[in-house]
Amino acid sequence: MLDPRSPSSTAETTALMRAVSCLEDDHDGADTLARLFLPEDMRAKLDNGAWREAVKERAGGIYPYIVARTRYFDRVFAECLSVGQVVLLGAGYDTRAYRFAERVREAGARVFELDAAPTQERKRAILAANGIDAGETQFVPMDFEHGAPLLGCIALLDGSSVAFIWEGVTLYLSPDAFERTLTAVRETSAYGVIAFDYLNVNPAEWNAKVTRKDEQLRFGMGMDAMEEYMRSMGFGVVENLGGLGGKETMSVIRAEWGVVYS
Ligand SMILES: C[S@@+](CC[C@H](N)C(=O)[O-])C[C@H]1O[C@@H](n2cnc3c(N)ncnc32)[C@H](O)[C@@H]1O
Repeated sequence: MLDPRSPSSTAETTALMRAVSCLEDDHDGADTLARLFLPEDMRAKLDNGAWREAVKERAGGIYPYIVARTRYFDRVFAECLSVGQVVLLGAGYDTRAYRFAERVREAGARVFELDAAPTQERKRAILAANGIDAGETQFVPMDFEHGAPLLGCIALLDGSSVAFIWEGVTLYLSPDAFERTLTAVRETSAYGVIAFDYLNVNPAEWNAKVTRKDEQLRFGMGMDAMEEYMRSMGFGVVENLGGLGGKETMSVIRAEWGVVYS
């Protein structure tokens, strides 16, 4: 479970994978701001190619997965701007609101970032220290495990249509928090879309392989079961993809509600 007093370590690992990928030859479109969220000593080592190779080797399949996942959700984010309101659930060090600031402005979209307070506070301090304009982005501290997860956000949304991106988060939640969040998402608006990735195998089997003890894997569901589950919750499944970046144990799903199919 996430330590409620400290910034998320998995958010930092994600930023590290993105910062390393920026220095690859085929880095086009990579997250150029990710390095800002690394501790000073790590940032200093980034230009050392041998160190980067060691990071990638230690990360194994997680590295190509996070690189591919970042590209996937970059595309989803850009497409979701036309919905008008985009909520980043468990935003961590997601930088899309600033990397795509011009497109956000052009679309007249509103972006909301939701995360646990310590990670959000650290992020905002780093953005300010580096002169990065968060524009109209609204930051809402919250906890998926306690209370009504979207309560602080709902009052800020207009209820017409909302897009949710939930990248790299569901695997760390309790099944109850996952379901309560999805229920709240479904009730925010008449029309909406949600995209998230999820562990498609039993989390208990995989925890043995994870060395960190603070953010253990807690939730997973097979791909067919996830589609069935989403339909039972009132969502239409748009796509359900496995094997991004060669990672067979993770899948991404995009689903929507309120659509009238003719
Ligand atoms: C692996 S990081 C992914 C961050 C971001 N979505 C990205 O892809 O860069 C997981 C994020 O989920 C957040 N998170 C995990 N459990 C949470 C909880 N119970 N309440 C709020 N946020 C939580 C962490 O703070 C962290 O930012």
